[in-house]
Amino acid sequence: MKKLLFVNALARPKEVSRTWQLCDAYISSFLEKHPEYELEELVLYERGVNCYSVEEINRRAELIANKKYDDPMFDMAWQFAGADAIVVGAPYWDLSFPAVLKAYVEAVCVNGITFHYTASGAEGLSKFSTMVYLTTSGGNNGDKKFGADYMEAVAHFLGKGEYKEAAAYGLDIIGNDVETILARAKEEVSSL
Ligand SMILES: Cc1cc2nc3c(=O)[nH]c(=O)nc-3n(C[C@H](O)[C@H](O)[C@H](O)COP(=O)(O)O)c2cc1C
Repeated sequence: MKKLLFVNALARPKEVSRTWQLCDAYISSFLEKHPEYELEELVLYERGVNCYSVEEINRRAELIANKKYDDPMFDMAWQFAGADAIVVGAPYWDLSFPAVLKAYVEAVCVNGITFHYTASGAEGLSKFSTMVYLTTSGGNNGDKKFGADYMEAVAHFLGKGEYKEAAAYGLDIIGNDVETILARAKEEVSSL
């Protein structure tokens, strides 16, 4: 079966996470439209994805230089490279997203697995046909979507598939009708 990889960068459990509601709506609708796919979920906080130490960076550079791509350090990069479709869910934190997602991006940007260099520059090697980024925020952040813009650049760096995004903004603004905003966003997400 084909794989839909859900990169879960959600800090709060699904019972309370609004971003999870968007992810759930997207995944349900995607699997319904594409029965040839199965879901593979990577929960970044459970996996214990952390920023590399200097020692780890040096070890990684040595492994790449020697083309030792079977090291477990590259497991997440192979998983990303081989996914047929990807959905990333992350709350809007401090103008972008939780640091665990940046650590994940560092882990999957591996020269020789998810991208490589040619005479004309970097070329994405990842297989995904679509990568979707879903987020929710407390304030109105449509004009400061640095996290989504960054993930779009990551998608274009690592693959040739289509990038799509959706968000529900303003969920912590006093007086906002949170249920209606979320319902609209879920509708949008289901039609992505
Ligand atoms: C550590 C932290 C940082 C946040 N930073 C921002 C921010 O910069 N801008 C904003 O509008 N909301 C911010 N929020 C609010 C969240 O984006 C918002 O509550 C979001 O819906 C949480 O998603 P969740 O329900 O999936 O956990 C922050 C929340 C937390 C806990």
